[in-house]
Amino acid sequence: MSIYTFMENLFKEPYTLPTIVITVAIAVFITHLQETKKLNEEKEEEQRKKIESSENVVKKNEGGSTSSESTSTASSSKPKAFALPETPLPPPNWSRIFTHEELAQHDGSKDDLPIYVAIKGTVFDVTTKKAMYGPSGGYHCFAGKDASKALGMSSLKAEDCIADYSTLSEKERKTLDDWYSFFEKRYPIVGKTGDA
Ligand SMILES: *[C@@H]1O[C@H](CO)[C@@H](O)[C@H](O)[C@H]1NC(C)=O
Repeated sequence: MSIYTFMENLFKEPYTLPTIVITVAIAVFITHLQETKKLNEEKEEEQRKKIESSENVVKKNEGGSTSSESTSTASSSKPKAFALPETPLPPPNWSRIFTHEELAQHDGSKDDLPIYVAIKGTVFDVTTKKAMYGPSGGYHCFAGKDASKALGMSSLKAEDCIADYSTLSEKERKTLDDWYSFFEKRYPIVGKTGDA
């Protein structure tokens, strides 16, 4: 039986036409679902790459002190910095309000105090990444303060490590928001700054 005879027979059946319409509708719907899923996956991948590249920019700015060994470790194996925490994060404590002075105590220079970084007024505990945010770390400029502007610009300049990000472009604000979600997934929220 040729495909045409087959189709003819199909259309002769009294209830086949609605069945075909429904089948086609379902097929279109499924394709649509698959495409949406693919798009979302592509978007996530793109966002992940962007965050990685901005971390790399920051890393590169660390200067010539990085040995070739540490560089190759960072690029070959999945860098530890990107790994999600194994245990779930504690719930955010939004009732704790930090003054600038209080937050400044938490820049890693005091061994017995946790290290905090604030983004857009939210204070994150980054003590687990002391090597990065502590006094000898490449990201130390962000510690003990709200460094939103620098994060948006992927900058490590001291003058950019300030809370006021009003001068950021739309693209830089997007980078800042990417950093926020990056931190939100990895570091406990311990409070907010007074001026948030
Ligand atoms: C949240 O912060 C407040 C104010 O500093 C504090 O009293 C409270 O114990 C904190 N809650 C938790 C669960 O840490």
